[in-house]
Parts: sequence; structure tokens; C-alpha cells
Amino acid sequence: MLVVKSKHELVSTLKRLKTGSKTLGFTPTMGALHLGHESLIRQSKKDNDISVVSIFVNPTQFLPHEDLSKYPRPIESDLKICESLGVDVVFLPSVEEMYEKDSIKVSAPKFMGYVFEGFLRPGHFDGVLSIVLKFFNLVLPTNAYFGKKDAQQLLMIEKMVKDLNLSINVVGMPLIRDKDNLAFSSRNVYLSNEGRKKALCLSSALFSIEDKIKNGIKDVSLLKKEALKSLWDVEVEYFEFVDRELHITTKLEDSILIAVIRVENIRLLDNLWISDIVHEGKCI
Ligand code: PAF
Repeated sequence: MLVVKSKHELVSTLKRLKTGSKTLGFTPTMGALHLGHESLIRQSKKDNDISVVSIFVNPTQFLPHEDLSKYPRPIESDLKICESLGVDVVFLPSVEEMYEKDSIKVSAPKFMGYVFEGFLRPGHFDGVLSIVLKFFNLVLPTNAYFGKKDAQQLLMIEKMVKDLNLSINVVGMPLIRDKDNLAFSSRNVYLSNEGRKKALCLSSALFSIEDKIKNGIKDVSLLKKEALKSLWDVEVEYFEFVDRELHITTKLEDSILIAVIRVENIRLLDNLWISDIVHEGKCI
């Protein structure tokens, strides 16, 4: 496995490796790799001849009050994980390597980029799209892998690829859960045992909605009302069925149920891609 730190080294390494019609899979990460990231990397290995992972804690997607310096950076163990998964190249740049002074930024769409996560973290998606586009332009991947857990991020990256005519196939990978069903997240380590137990009400509420849908219940407001009853013990930031442009919808088919709860002041995202349940042929 090669670990490269400069853009120049990355481009020349990939030029050397990517001969003929070899396909290249790319998984951008901010490190602190968990089983969710591992599933993206494994899929990239399965689908492509060459697999590249970037590890970069991107400062432009943090808001001024969010503590960038506290973001976990277990680089040694991240590299071990990449090595064990057979990653070919890890790109590990510095902030200076990725950003010029007074650099050009991508603007997230005015609606999609400023609702839900974007409303609570204005400007966050400008930072995400800017860094992802910079990486795409350096790596020129055939396939790029993102988790469905960050639904809004995935939808906007798909939109950017379409709007900016990039020849990249974006692959959205299913959300991965821990043994107790908590969705994997780098933030989970901040939860106490008690907090973690409390947080499980969200996955239970989503599973119960999934069961109801499989049993033929299609009334979105009924599904939402029932689920919210079981979330009485946590602070719910949002819990909505949305379409792929992030408009709240009452049409169940092809919607995504996006949810954030706050436990011990930690924001926990989870979601249910109703289209996946439908397309698995399980219901509706
Ligand atoms: O999902 C993440 O870890 C980050 O937002 C990403 C896509 C690596 C961009 O910094």
C-alpha cells in the first residue's frame, strides 16, 4: 500500500497504476475509520482494479463553533485498516496541500444545501462539495463510494456530479449498524453507556416503521406520528420523509426518512431509504 501526501505524488502514482482500461474506486474519508467506512472500501475493492482512500479532516466543512481540533485522528490504526483491506493508495494530504489562500469554493444548492443538516450547519455542504470536487479532479475515479447514512451529503454529491457533468459513478452504500443496531458513526465514542442505550430508540423507531410499511401501511403522517411517540425520551431535531430534492413529502414510494436525535449533546443521524425497501420487492 502506498501512502502519498502531495497532490503531485498522487497524480503521478495513479498515472503509473492506471494503465489501459483499469477501473479506479475512490472512498473519501475523514479517518477514524469504522465498519461503515470498511464496507465502502470493501465494495470499492470488489468493483475496481485499483482502490484509493483519502484521509483528510476537511476544515471547510466545520463551522466556527465546531471544534475541528477535537475531531479524532487515529491515523496509525486507520492506515492498518486500509492495509488489511488491500487498499492500493492512501492519500493523506495536509490542509495547506488541499487549500490555496483565498481559495475558490463550490456553493451548495440554495435549497438542498440549507435545509436539515444545512440549516443547522450553514455552509457545511459548501465545504463538503468543495473538497469532494477537488479529490474527484485529482483521483479521476471510475466509481466513488459514499454511505447512505449521510443521506443529504450523498444526494448533493449525486447532484454535483450531474450538474457539473462529471464522468463518475457515485455508489451509495447501505448504512451499517453496530451489534446493538446503533448506526456506525465516529461520534458514537462520545456516548456514555446510558446515552447509548437511550439512543437505540431511534433505530427501533425506524425498524418499526419498516415493519409497518412491509405490512402495507403507506400513510406517511400516521407512520411519523406513531414513531415520534417512541422518541419521547430524546431530543428530536428532525424526523421527516423527504424526496430526493429534500422536500418533505407525503408520497411514501421513493422517499427517504431522515432523522437526527440529540443525546448527551451528541447529534446522531439515522435514516431509512424507503426506495430500498420497495425495490427489494418486500412491500408496496
Ligand atoms: O463523509 C465524510 O466523511 C466527509 O464529509 C467527506 C465526504 C470525506 C468529505 O470531507
